[in-house]
Amino acid sequence: MNTLTVDSLELKGKKVLVRCDFNVPLDDDLKIRDDKRIVDALPTIKKVIKDGGKLILMSHFGRPKGQVVPEMSLKPVAERLGELIKKKVTLTPDCIGEEVKAIADGMKDGDVVLLENLRFHAEEEAGDEEFAAQLAELGEVYLSDAFGVCHRAHASVSIIAKYFTQVASGYLLRNEIEYIGGAMKDPKRPLATILAGNLAGNKISSKIDVIMKLIDISDKIFIGGGIANTMLLAQGIEVGKSLVEADKVDVALEILKKAKEKGTKILLPPDMLCGKEFKNETELKYCDTDKQDKEWIAMGIGPKTVQQYKDELADCKTVIWNGPMSVFEFPNFAKETFEIAQVIADYTKGSGLISIIGGGDTAAAVKTAGLDGQYSHISTGGGAAMEYMEGKKLPGIACLSPKGFDGRRKFLIAGNWKMNKTPREAIKFAKELKKAMPNDDNVEIMAAPVFNSIYPVYQELKKTHIDIGSQDVFWETSGAFTGEVPAKMLKLTGVKYCIIGHSERRQYFCETDQTVNKKIRAVLKEGLVPVICVGEKLEQREAEIEKDVVKGQIKGALSGIEIKDNLNIVIAYEPVWAIGTGKTATPEQAQEMHEYIRELLKGIYGELFAASTRILYGGSLNAGNAKDLLSRKDIDGGLIGGASLKKDDFKAIADIARGIEK
Ligand code: 13P
Repeated sequence: MNTLTVDSLELKGKKVLVRCDFNVPLDDDLKIRDDKRIVDALPTIKKVIKDGGKLILMSHFGRPKGQVVPEMSLKPVAERLGELIKKKVTLTPDCIGEEVKAIADGMKDGDVVLLENLRFHAEEEAGDEEFAAQLAELGEVYLSDAFGVCHRAHASVSIIAKYFTQVASGYLLRNEIEYIGGAMKDPKRPLATILAGNLAGNKISSKIDVIMKLIDISDKIFIGGGIANTMLLAQGIEVGKSLVEADKVDVALEILKKAKEKGTKILLPPDMLCGKEFKNETELKYCDTDKQDKEWIAMGIGPKTVQQYKDELADCKTVIWNGPMSVFEFPNFAKETFEIAQVIADYTKGSGLISIIGGGDTAAAVKTAGLDGQYSHISTGGGAAMEYMEGKKLPGIACLSPKGFDGRRKFLIAGNWKMNKTPREAIKFAKELKKAMPNDDNVEIMAAPVFNSIYPVYQELKKTHIDIGSQDVFWETSGAFTGEVPAKMLKLTGVKYCIIGHSERRQYFCETDQTVNKKIRAVLKEGLVPVICVGEKLEQREAEIEKDVVKGQIKGALSGIEIKDNLNIVIAYEPVWAIGTGKTATPEQAQEMHEYIRELLKGIYGELFAASTRILYGGSLNAGNAKDLLSRKDIDGGLIGGASLKKDDFKAIADIARGIEK
């Protein structure tokens, strides 16, 4: 994932909004029991203060379910943080509103403010756009260090990012991305994965997806803890009174089968540590796995297993450790878990093993062993780490690389309503679209109403997968410019895409490549996406200068704009002679021009940018010709006029896009 980190941003004098995870455990008297989560965020916090930023921290705390619950105030966190950084930390009375805004606006460089619990507002967990926009109003730069909630599309975690031009990960999140992301994508091999879990806790059923993924990428899998019992049972080994998930034996068999197919070596424990009863003060003994005493309970791995795993780890370059090897919470049963913890710490120090410790129980185990700090990385996320390892896209990370330069292009089916539909008609139409349009991860939909219908249409569509576009924008931010609308105001009324340089604006409203360029800059500054229209007139095509014309328009539009200017654009090729005329470019003509445009982009911004940027076709696109056009290699969607005004036609085009695989 190509996220920027805090190191690449200019923070001096800026209000820096940082999402942290300060959800620390409290004792009954509301004192913090473990401040690890606050301590983990300190590197980013100190960096912002040192660079002269105005630090505005935000976090959730507990599950107040949208109510103000005084016991879930972040007050203890503000106090503890103040002690740790030896600085005043101002806790705001709420996380949004006029009073909070005034506090943020009154900050001096290096000041620290903590916003009150985000989850006092139900809108946080609902991912509400307006709530996110209100939070965003407080800052100029957005940083995230809240890995533990990155798998949630909450307002302050992912939705908020689109309101900023400068977004980045803090150090905590950067480490998670580097270590977990790195190990999953391009691990140093051999890669060993330890899959375990204490007997009362993590179960095979809750881990199946991540297990399958880990089998895919690992060279060796070591099994321990509770999972071992179910795996052994699946192999016909009697496990007596030990805790197993008897109904998951088929899953265990599937795991063994997949490992065999993949050639991943699975190591099951040759011996176990067993207890007479499931408690600390009980008799204990070691048994060979195939000769377990049915009256005893397996509580962990035995010494032969520790030795075997130690030997097998010797040649590994990466290890991912998920779940303790025994019930380490009972001191009498902790030894083998701690021994494995020691082995991994030794290899990390001795032979440069990259050691990644999963969150939750495993992190607690190495801490109890007194070995935390001796590994390459200890994850701060439980559920988030699991989903990240599964290969899922985490909203809290994906939103930090809005450019998404990964060479993939989603279809964009965009409706330009031009000067059609009254507000009432627009709302009615939005309601129809909401019901009708396919919800598909591979096809994005956009609707661009007349200016005065943007907000009501946004209200209808804001919780859907249909994004809002504007048909134009002005480059200034405010002031005496009668009749104009700036990018920021568009953003605040829900706009994501701005159509710029449409041929009708070039023809009737004196739009030039220079004004197009200014508008693009203004739009990028607000973190919006310009849809830049280019295309030749009929006489230019007849004179066979269409490519020169388009080249001039592209170069003029993007003149002086660099990738670091938050560049994230869509190009729309709309041959003027095809707009509203019923004439379409043939698929061959369109593909040829699209390929040419991509080459131009490659020349300016490089291969990855060009391969990631969508180029739409526009000009009498309809349900009848969409399949031929959209199937072409370089055509990534449509900017549709007439056919976007009728629900069935627009839907038919989106459905066609959905059916095309490239
Ligand atoms: P038509 O689809 O009506 O030809 O309009 C194309 C267009 O100009 C979209 O911006």
